[in-house]
Amino acid sequence: MPMPGAGVAALAAGGGGGHSAARCSAYKLALAALLAVALLQFVYLSLLAGLHGREQRRRYGQLFPGGAALGASLQRRAAESAKEQLRAVLAAGGALDASGDYRVYRHVLGDPSRRPRDAVLLATHASLSNLGHVGTLLERWAGPLAVAVFAARPEEAQLATVLTYALGALCTEAVRDRLTMHLVCPARTEAAVPDPREPGEFARISSCTDVFTSMGARSRSGRNYALATNVSYPNNLLRNVAREGAGHALVVDVDMVPSEGLWPGLRDLLAQGEGKAGRALVVPAFEIRQGVRVPRTKIELMRFLKMGHVRPFYAELCPRCQAPTNYTRWLTLPPGGPLRPAYRVTWQDPWEPFYVAGGAVPSFNERFRQYGFNRISQACELHVAGFEFEVLNDAFLVHKGFKMPGDFHPQKEAENQRNKVLFRQFKQDLKMKYPDSPRRC
Ligand SMILES: *[C@@H]1O[C@H](CO)[C@@H](O)[C@H](O)[C@H]1NC(C)=O
Ligand SMILES: *[C@@H]1O[C@H](CO)[C@@H](O)[C@H](O)[C@H]1NC(C)=O
Repeated sequence: MPMPGAGVAALAAGGGGGHSAARCSAYKLALAALLAVALLQFVYLSLLAGLHGREQRRRYGQLFPGGAALGASLQRRAAESAKEQLRAVLAAGGALDASGDYRVYRHVLGDPSRRPRDAVLLATHASLSNLGHVGTLLERWAGPLAVAVFAARPEEAQLATVLTYALGALCTEAVRDRLTMHLVCPARTEAAVPDPREPGEFARISSCTDVFTSMGARSRSGRNYALATNVSYPNNLLRNVAREGAGHALVVDVDMVPSEGLWPGLRDLLAQGEGKAGRALVVPAFEIRQGVRVPRTKIELMRFLKMGHVRPFYAELCPRCQAPTNYTRWLTLPPGGPLRPAYRVTWQDPWEPFYVAGGAVPSFNERFRQYGFNRISQACELHVAGFEFEVLNDAFLVHKGFKMPGDFHPQKEAENQRNKVLFRQFKQDLKMKYPDSPRRC
């Protein structure tokens, strides 16, 4: 490692001579020393960059071994069956949603019959610019993951089919058996089967790692809603599509990361008979300063909290939205030990918890699109429907980045106002839907 300090010290010592010729040679010496330092630093930085690249490749290489690691014939068969499935799903033309505004292609990737029945599904949704987070989710969540992808424009639908096809064709079973993808487009868009012989995106993809690199290259975080078209982002439709068919699902935003071991923890908990119908197991949500490594365990999370790198989700914009989770109480529960429901809390407006629930969980109301009231309306319905909320002792979610007032797209306030009106109507409708419930929201 170069030591700029040593260079500077030499320079200061060299500059002490009184004679003009000596000063001149001292000057040359200093210049040479400076050049040497610069050169060393350049070599050091390029070495670091190389190491970083290798580290990235190693990390993803383990999880997603590329083409070379798979037998050629196995790979061909996987590619064929993925393409067959994609072709069949796209040829069927999808199904229009209840509003008739969107076209839904279910299972463009992933075979639902291969998903274990008892497994908790991590369900999420994303536009193409947020697909880069899927790699992180697959790393941290060891169970099945379902993603409903929204393509607002025909070019995006085309790109989504290319990426889906490549995932099926180039990734190992470790990815294919866990990842389910659905594609949602505006009703007028029809997605076509991609042709891998065509140039374009395929030219850049020859391994599973390339697929994830390509998805990450489009990342512009927080842009789910700010579409360049006048098509609304149908977040609740996407959530419903993603969690369809799951006995138990944890529905999260795509830029949230679960704590390590959450999946096996939940699996064991459910095997012990927890997670019965009518109970919602709450996973406390936090947010982390942009660029800081996401903590794995509660101990790490608590340390990051003390340092100010982590805070409760929406702590600045809407502290009341998560307050009923009772972070103070949660932090007094000792970290470690088996996962268990630690305390019960009563739903109150405007709590929007993330949770795992089984039984007849009410669906997300699909009239809510874009920003505002889309998750809270569902949490409120769970409450009215009689669900009990219990907070898990040693599980958490971390949203990548602090939610800040300036982060949002320009139409956010207008959308929020529109959805506020919808929410008022929704609450009235709940009284009719659950006439015998003593609960209100
Ligand atoms: C916006 O919607 C109208 C139909 O309501 C459509 O004709 C127009 O092309 C759309 N504009 C964009 C940019 O998608
Ligand atoms: C949080 O839990 C503590 C008990 O540990 C209780 O005293 C406090 O009132 C609770 N706070 C909220 C906001 O419910």
